[in-house]
Amino acid sequence: MNIAEYLEQKRVEVDRFLDQAAPPAVLPPTTLHEGLRYSLMAGGKRIRPILTIAAAEAIGATAPGLIPVACSLELIHTYSLIHDDLPSMDNDDFRRGKPTNHKVYGEAMAILAGDALSTMAFDLISRPDLMKGCDPVRQIRIIQELASGSGSMGMVGGQVFDIQAEHQDIDLSTLQNIHKHKTGMLIRAAVRMGAIAAGATDRQLDDLTGYAEDIGLAFQIADDVLNVTGTREELGKNPNTDAERGKKTYPTFYGVDGARKLADDCVTRAITRLSSFGPPADPLREIARYITARKN
Ligand code: IPE
Ligand code: IPE
Ligand code: MG
Ligand code: MG
Repeated sequence: MNIAEYLEQKRVEVDRFLDQAAPPAVLPPTTLHEGLRYSLMAGGKRIRPILTIAAAEAIGATAPGLIPVACSLELIHTYSLIHDDLPSMDNDDFRRGKPTNHKVYGEAMAILAGDALSTMAFDLISRPDLMKGCDPVRQIRIIQELASGSGSMGMVGGQVFDIQAEHQDIDLSTLQNIHKHKTGMLIRAAVRMGAIAAGATDRQLDDLTGYAEDIGLAFQIADDVLNVTGTREELGKNPNTDAERGKKTYPTFYGVDGARKLADDCVTRAITRLSSFGPPADPLREIARYITARKN
C-alpha cells in the first residue's frame, strides 16, 4: 500500500468533516469561533483521527459514527496544543506554520478556544444525529475512552508531569512516564475508540492497545528528536525549544541517534503486536513506520 496516499486521503476526509462540524466564524461569539477555527484548520497531520479510522479498518466491520469519533480526538488534540503553547506553559510563538493562538487572539481567548474545543469533542460523539446506528453500549465506552485519555490520568496529567519536570534532573523512568501520559494516552484512546466502534473482541482490543502504547512512545521520541534536528520551515513550529526551556528529553539521555534507535525499536514492537491481524491492519503497520520517518 502507498501510505502517503492513504494519509492524504484520510486527512482530506477529516478536514472536510471538521470544517463543517466547527461553528462558522460568523456565528457569535465570533471571536471565539474565529479563534478556534484558526488553530483547528491550520493544517495538522491529523494522525490521531487517522489512527481511529485505521484501527476500525483493522477490525474490518462497519462502524457507524466513525468520522465524528475520529474527529473528536483532533478537537481535544488541538485544544491541548493551544494550551501547551500558552506563556504559562511552553510559551511558544509558532504552531502549524502560523503564530500561536494567543499571539493572535490573546491569552484569555486562547484559553477559552481550548475549553470550547474540549467540550465540542464530547458534543460530537454524543449527538444522536451524528452517531446514528452506533450501538449505545459502544458509544458510552467510546465517550469514556476519550474522557480518560484526555483527563487528569491521561493527557492533562502528562502535561502536569511535564511542567513539573522543567529544570529538574529527572531520570529516564520519569521521562517515560511524562511521554506515556502527555502524548501516549490520547494516541491510545484514538486506537481503542476506533477498535471499539468497529466491535473489537477483548483480545483484539488488547493487541491494539499494546500497538498504540508502543507507537505513542515512538511518536513523542520522534517529536523530541525533531525538536533538535528540524527547522522551523519543516516543523511549522520553532525547533530547540526543549533545551531552551530546560526540558530533558530522549536525545538528552541517548543522543539523537540513540533516541532514533529507541523509537525504531518501539515501532518494531508495535508491528509485532499486530501479528494476529491480516492485511486490513496494513495501514496501522505503515502508520507505525511513518511515525519515525516523518519530517514534521
Ligand atoms: C504535536 O503533535 C504535539 C505532540 C503531542 C507530540 P502532532 O505532531 O500530531 O502535531 P500536528 O497535529 O500535526 O500539528
Ligand atoms: C505536547 O508536547 C503535548 C501536548 C500538547 C499534550 P510538547 O510540548 O513536547 O509538543 P510540541 O513540541 O510543543 O508540539
Ligand atoms: Mg509541552
Ligand atoms: Mg510544547
